[in-house]
Amino acid sequence: MTWRTLETEDGSCTLQRTADAVTCHSTAGAWRQARERYARACRIAELGAERGAVALLDIGTGLGLNLAAALEALEASAAPLEAVSFERDVELLAHAFEVRQPPECERWVAPVRAILRVALHSPGERVAAPWGGLRLELGDARTAVRRWRTGAFDAVFLDPFAPSLEPQLWSAEFLADLAAAMAPHALLSTYSASVAVRAGLVAAGLRVGQGPRVGRKAQGSLASFTAPLPPLHPRLARKIARRSAR
Ligand SMILES: C[S@@+](CC[C@H](N)C(=O)[O-])C[C@H]1O[C@@H](n2cnc3c(N)ncnc32)[C@H](O)[C@@H]1O
Repeated sequence: MTWRTLETEDGSCTLQRTADAVTCHSTAGAWRQARERYARACRIAELGAERGAVALLDIGTGLGLNLAAALEALEASAAPLEAVSFERDVELLAHAFEVRQPPECERWVAPVRAILRVALHSPGERVAAPWGGLRLELGDARTAVRRWRTGAFDAVFLDPFAPSLEPQLWSAEFLADLAAAMAPHALLSTYSASVAVRAGLVAAGLRVGQGPRVGRKAQGSLASFTAPLPPLHPRLARKIARRSAR
């Protein structure tokens, strides 16, 4: 599969699959999406300040922008980031290593890229980084995630391709595995606002709330066992509850 670099509206770059024009990020802004949809929505800065360290499950390594946004969020607290990142497509990673970002993004993605290059040669093993540590799980995340059902992660970035392209990473089974990885206070963020995905999260025992508006995407979803969440419209919440009970 071939990928080309595509500049998004905030000046940061993503990868686009030449065969079908699928992109790894919103064209409204790859870096903006990473910061707002994932790092900010999962309260990474606050977690760093409150807990002194952050354990992150990152579904879909891609260009490493979401990991980079987590690093940026931890600058003030200097809390270490321990991340487990899942990627199936080694060829995509090779393309991602060649992409250069604008300075404000490159500052954070360059250290992630450096560790990913090392981690690529020792998949599944922890690679120490100046900012903490990273494990790169290569292969299908559905299999790899099973050994991380520890109930210890502070945050989950759920960022695979769309359900129409990758239905397996939105299945109730996979969402239940993610829930089993999460600590009670943890937040999961994803760009999907579909009733089916939200019902899967509820079926896994999580509460679901509205994610932030990012660019043209009106909302995404946030999920947690105990953290406060922006509420859904009651009618929508009832629809999700009915669907999750099926
Ligand atoms: C939308 S992109 C992720 C962008 C990334 N989060 C970033 O910050 O740059 C989706 C990623 O999920 C990966 N992916 C898709 N299906 C997967 C699977 N079953 N297991 C692991 N990774 C998968 C793709 O190869 C792709 O890199």
